[in-house]
Amino acid sequence: MLNKKTKKTVSFLASGRGSNFKAVADKIISGNIKATPGILICDKPDAAAFEKAAKLGIDSIFIDPKAFASKADYEKEMIKHFDRYKTDYIVAAGYMRILSDEIIQHYKNRIINIHPSLLPAFQGRDAQNQAIEYGVKITGCTTHFIDEGTDTGPIILQRAINVNKKDTVHTLADRILKEEHKILVKSIKLLCDGKIEVRGRHVIIH
Ligand code: GRF
Repeated sequence: MLNKKTKKTVSFLASGRGSNFKAVADKIISGNIKATPGILICDKPDAAAFEKAAKLGIDSIFIDPKAFASKADYEKEMIKHFDRYKTDYIVAAGYMRILSDEIIQHYKNRIINIHPSLLPAFQGRDAQNQAIEYGVKITGCTTHFIDEGTDTGPIILQRAINVNKKDTVHTLADRILKEEHKILVKSIKLLCDGKIEVRGRHVIIH
């Protein structure tokens, strides 16, 4: 299915700071990831990700979910823009909305999420805080394909880190974030190099 000769186009979804977006976009621009940047779509007009996109010369657009009668209409608009850029893969880089089954099926195994825990532990919001509250000694981050559940899709890569006695949610989140950038970049590079195969829940890396 994956044609190694064709450069893939990678687009992005973000809601805020956009450091994961920037980590991947930097590597695309520098040629380290052999792909073409598509478009960044944000659901927040003031997302800091917009400035990062502008500096990198990557097109971006704010799509206001409130401007649409339904979630389906809002996502149709997103799909229109992604398709305009001939998007192969979409990176959900800190996108804080749940995608509907329709868009997930439309881009089956082509939307990649980064989550700040070792899934399936601590799904959903505030994963770093959930880890502190639970008292785990090890946590980390996970890249996975988005499926119809919340943070339940086939896992691509994971990286573990220790939780220290003195960690606050902020110090822990900072350390996890550094690892998020690494595994997200690596995952997208593997995908764009045609080295990833999905067999049911299992992601095989060739
Ligand atoms: C990251 O911790 C990511 O794992 C989570 O939201 C945060 C987004 O950070 N989904 P950024 O916008 O990529 O800097």
